Amino acid sequence: MEKYEIKGGCHLRGEVEISGAKNAAVAIIPAALLVDGVCRIENLPEISDTEALLHILASLGAKVKMIDPSTVEVDCRHVHWENADYDRMRKIRASYYFIGSMLGRFGKAQTTMPGGCNFGVRPIDQHVKGMTALGAPVDVRNGYIFSEAQTEDGRLHGAEIYLDKVSVGATINVIIAACMAEGKTVIENCAREPHVVDLANFLNSMGADIRGAGTDTVKINGVKSLHGGSYAIIPDQIEAATYMIAAAATQGEVLVKNVIPKHLDCISAKLREMSVTVEEYPDSVLVRAREQLTKTNVKTQPYPGFPTDAQAPISVALSQSRGVSIITESVYDGNRYKHMNELRKMGATITVNGSTAVLEGPYELTGATVQACDLRAGAAMVIAGLCAKGTTYVEDIHYIERGYQDFVGKLRALGADIAIVDFPDDVEEAELSVV
Ligand code: EPZ
Repeated sequence: MEKYEIKGGCHLRGEVEISGAKNAAVAIIPAALLVDGVCRIENLPEISDTEALLHILASLGAKVKMIDPSTVEVDCRHVHWENADYDRMRKIRASYYFIGSMLGRFGKAQTTMPGGCNFGVRPIDQHVKGMTALGAPVDVRNGYIFSEAQTEDGRLHGAEIYLDKVSVGATINVIIAACMAEGKTVIENCAREPHVVDLANFLNSMGADIRGAGTDTVKINGVKSLHGGSYAIIPDQIEAATYMIAAAATQGEVLVKNVIPKHLDCISAKLREMSVTVEEYPDSVLVRAREQLTKTNVKTQPYPGFPTDAQAPISVALSQSRGVSIITESVYDGNRYKHMNELRKMGATITVNGSTAVLEGPYELTGATVQACDLRAGAAMVIAGLCAKGTTYVEDIHYIERGYQDFVGKLRALGADIAIVDFPDDVEEAELSVV
C-alpha cells in the first residue's frame, strides 16, 4: 500500500504554482458532451478525477486527444448516451453532471448514482427537482439514474426553478441541462462559487446564452446547438487555500502563484485574524507566518463565505494557534469532521459536538500513522504531519491524488520532507489454530 511518509518540523518556504480548478474541470468535461464540435480545454489539472471523466466521455463516443498533460481536445460530433463507462462513473461524484449533458444533448440520460468522498449524506434531490422541472422526470433504480424528456419534441423545455438548498452540483447540472432546452430557464438560489462561473463561461464560449452566473439568479436562453472552441480553466481556489494554510500552519513563507486573489478573500481574511501576513499581487498571494498563530473562529458557508473544502486544512492551522478556536461546519449536515479523530491520534484533544468543533491550541502534534478520510481531510493530515514532531504516515492517499496535482512534488519544492513509500500489503495473517 502506498503511503505518504512525512518528517515533521519544517517551515515551508518558496514558491508554488497552482493548477487548474478541479471542481471546474469536473463540470466542464461532462458539459463538453453538449458541443457538436471540437473543444480545446486548457489548464486541466492532472488528477485522477479529470482522467476518469475523460475516459467516460470517450466511452460515449467522443474522440479525446491529449495535446499535453494539461491540454485536451475533445470531439463530440459523434456521441451516444448509452453504454457509458459505468464502473468509472460509480467512483466519482461529478459523474452526475452527465445527467445534465446527456439530457441536454439527447433528451435522455442513464448514469450511475454518484460516488466520491464519503462525508455525511450527499443527496441529489435538487438535481432531480431541476431536471423534472425541465421536463425530464428522474428514476433511480438498481443503482442507476434514468431520465428522459417527456415532451412532444423529446427536448427539455425551459422552466423557473428555485433550489431549496444552495448547491454547487445542482446549480451546475441544471445550467448544463438548460443550455439547449426550448425557451428560457431561470434558476433561483444558485451557488456562486468560482467554478460555477467558470462552467458558465466555458459554455458561453461555445455559443450558450447564460447570464448571472456568480449571482444567486441565473438566466439561460436555450440555443439549438453549441459550436466548438477553446477555453482555459481558472486556477484552483481550494488548492491555493491548502498551500496558504500549510504555509501558515508551519510558520513559513510561501508565494502562491497563478491564483485569482479575489477568490481567496475569505482565506486571506481568516489567516490575517490568526496574525498571519498575507500580501496580494495581481496573480499571486504571499503568505508569511513569523510569529505564533492566534486563535479565531471559522464558520463554513457557500461562496463567498469560508469554503467547506478548506475546513479540514484550517483545522490543522487552528490546532497550532494559541487560544480556543471554534469551527462550525454549516454546509454539510453530516460528518465532515472525520479528520479530527486522526488529529487526536497525533495529540490534539479536540471536542466535536454535532456541527461544532472546539480546539484549544497550540497542540504539540507527534507523528503517527493516520488515514486520509477524504480528499481535503487527507490534505489536512499532510499539513499536520509537516507540523508534527517525528514521522507521520498518511494512508489511503488515493483520495488526495484525486484532487491535488503533484502534491508531493510541490511540497518538496517548498522544503517539505515528504515521500511516497510503498509498504508491502499488511503482514500475512497469522494462521489461527483450530482446537
Ligand atoms: C461540490 O460538491 C464540490 N464537489 C465539493 O467539493 C464541495 O464540498 C461542495 O460542492 C460544496 O462547495 C464538486 O464540485 C465535484 P453541494 P456538491 O451540492 O456539488 C446538500 C472537494 O473537496 N445538497 O454544493 O456535491 C449537500 O448535502 C469536494 O473538492 C442537497 O441537500 O455539493 C450539502 O449539504 C468535496 N441536495 C449542500 O447541499 C442536493 O441535491 C452543498 O452540497 C445537492 C446538495
